[in-house]
Amino acid sequence: MAISDFDLVLFGGTGDLSMRKLLPALYARDRAKDLPAEGRIICIGRDNKSDEDFIAIVEKDSKPHISAASMDADVWQRFCKRLRYVSVNAKEAGSFQNLVKALRDDPQLTRVFYLATPPSLFASICENLANAGLATANSRVVLEKPLGRDLASARDINKQVGRHFSESQIFRIDHYLGKEAVQNLLALRFGNVLFEPLWRREWISDVQITIAEELGAGGRVDYYDTAGALRDMLQNHLLQLLCIVAMEPPVTNSADAVRDEKLKVLRSLKRFTPTTLAMNVVRGQYRAGHVNGVAVPGYRKEEDANPESHTETFVAVKAEIDTWRWAGVPFYLRTGKRMADSLAEIVVRFKSVPHSIFAQQNNSTLPNCLVIRLQPDEGLHMNLMAKTPGDGMRLRPVELEMDFREKFKTPRMEAYERLLLDVLRGHLTLFMRSDELEAAWEWVEPILEHWEQQETDPIPYNAGTWGPAAASALIGRDGLQWREEA
Ligand code: BG6
Repeated sequence: MAISDFDLVLFGGTGDLSMRKLLPALYARDRAKDLPAEGRIICIGRDNKSDEDFIAIVEKDSKPHISAASMDADVWQRFCKRLRYVSVNAKEAGSFQNLVKALRDDPQLTRVFYLATPPSLFASICENLANAGLATANSRVVLEKPLGRDLASARDINKQVGRHFSESQIFRIDHYLGKEAVQNLLALRFGNVLFEPLWRREWISDVQITIAEELGAGGRVDYYDTAGALRDMLQNHLLQLLCIVAMEPPVTNSADAVRDEKLKVLRSLKRFTPTTLAMNVVRGQYRAGHVNGVAVPGYRKEEDANPESHTETFVAVKAEIDTWRWAGVPFYLRTGKRMADSLAEIVVRFKSVPHSIFAQQNNSTLPNCLVIRLQPDEGLHMNLMAKTPGDGMRLRPVELEMDFREKFKTPRMEAYERLLLDVLRGHLTLFMRSDELEAAWEWVEPILEHWEQQETDPIPYNAGTWGPAAASALIGRDGLQWREEA
C-alpha cells in the first residue's frame, strides 16, 4: 500500500534514538522509494536552530549510522531536503505555535507525532498538541518505551494520551515486533499445517526464550539504573515474544484480531505469589569479567553508576500459562547484559517419543527441538533423529537448518523501518494496545514489589557468562538445561 503525503514530527528529534535509529530508518525507506516526494520530517528540540544547523548535526550524528553500502549522495540530498527543525518546549503551550506554523494545514495529509522523549513528557506534549488544535482526525501519535515503570504509571500514560487521541491513533512501539524473525514466526505458525497440531501441551515439553547481550549498561546507566532488566526487556520484548509463540490462531491478521489473542495470553499467565516468586524468578547483576577476551568492569563500576546499586542486569523467570493448550508447559524466559554471547532465540522442545522401539539396541532417541533464531542471524533449526548410514540400526540427531538471509536474497528491513512504514500507513497490528500494555505490567508488578520489599542484592555473575548459577538451577530443577549450557 502506497504511503500518502505526511508531516512526521519527531519530538526528541535531536536525541540519541532519532540520530541512531529513526533518521537512518527513514533514510533507508526514502532510498527504497517508499516515501512520497512531498513527505516532510520535522524534528523538534528545545534550542533555537536553523534548518541548516540541524542538518549539519544530522550529518555528524546520524549519517555515521548508515552503512557505506547504502549511502547514496543524491538520495541523502533528497532526504535532507525533507528535514526541518522547529524549537518547541514540551511544557510551554505557547511554543507549540512554532509547530502550528511549520505544519501544513491539509486534512488529507497524515500527521504523525512521534514521542521519542521521556514518558514524563507524554502528557504535556499531548495536551499542548490538543490545545494548539493539532490533535485532529488525521493525526497519529507514536509512544516510545519505557511505557511506564509499573502498572499505575502505564495506566496514567494511557489515560493522559487517551484524553486527546483515540486508541486507533495511538502506536505503542515495541521494536521487537518489527523484527523480521518475529514476523516469520507468525508465518511459520499460521502459514503451515505442520506445526499447529503439535503446538500444545500434548507434544511440547517446554519453551525457552532468551535475549542475551554482550553489551553492558555503560553509557546509559542514568536510564538503566531506574529500569533494570525486568522493566527494560522482560515486561515488553520477552513477553511480546511469548505472546506470539503462545497465542491462539487469530481469525485474521488484522490489528485487533492479533492483539485480542495476545491479550488472552497475558491474562492467562499464572500470577506469582511471594512463595512461587522465590522459586521461579532469578535476578542477577554483572561483576567484572571478560567479554570476547576483553576485560570489562562490573555494573557498579560503570561510569556514573551507583556503587551500591540493586538494579538487576539479568533476569530469568519460569512462567506458566493457565490455558487448556499450555497448562503444565514451562516457559523459561531470560535476558541479561554482559552475557557470554549476543543472541535472541526461541527454543521449542517437543516431548520424547511415547515408546522407543530402538531402546533395546542402545539407541536413545532425543526429543525434537525447534529453534527460531532472531539474532544475530535469522533462521530455523530443527533437530530430528536419523539413522546413521551403514550396517545396523543406530540413530543420531541431525539438524535441518534454514538461514533466512541465504534463502531470501532480498534486502533486509530494520525493525524501525518496518514500524515507521506501518505508522505512516496506519497499520496497528505490530503495536501494543492499551489493555495489552496494562496486562503485561499487571503480571510483572508482583515481582517488582517483592524485590522492593526484600531490599536484597541481585546475585552477582561474572561478565561474559550465562548469568548466575541460580538461573541454571531454576531450569535444572525440572531436569532441563538452557540450550547454550546443554
Ligand atoms: C532496548 C533496550 O529496548 O532493546 C536495550 O532498552 C537493549 O537495553 C535493546 O539493548 C536490545 O534491542 P536489540 O534490537 O539490539 O536486540
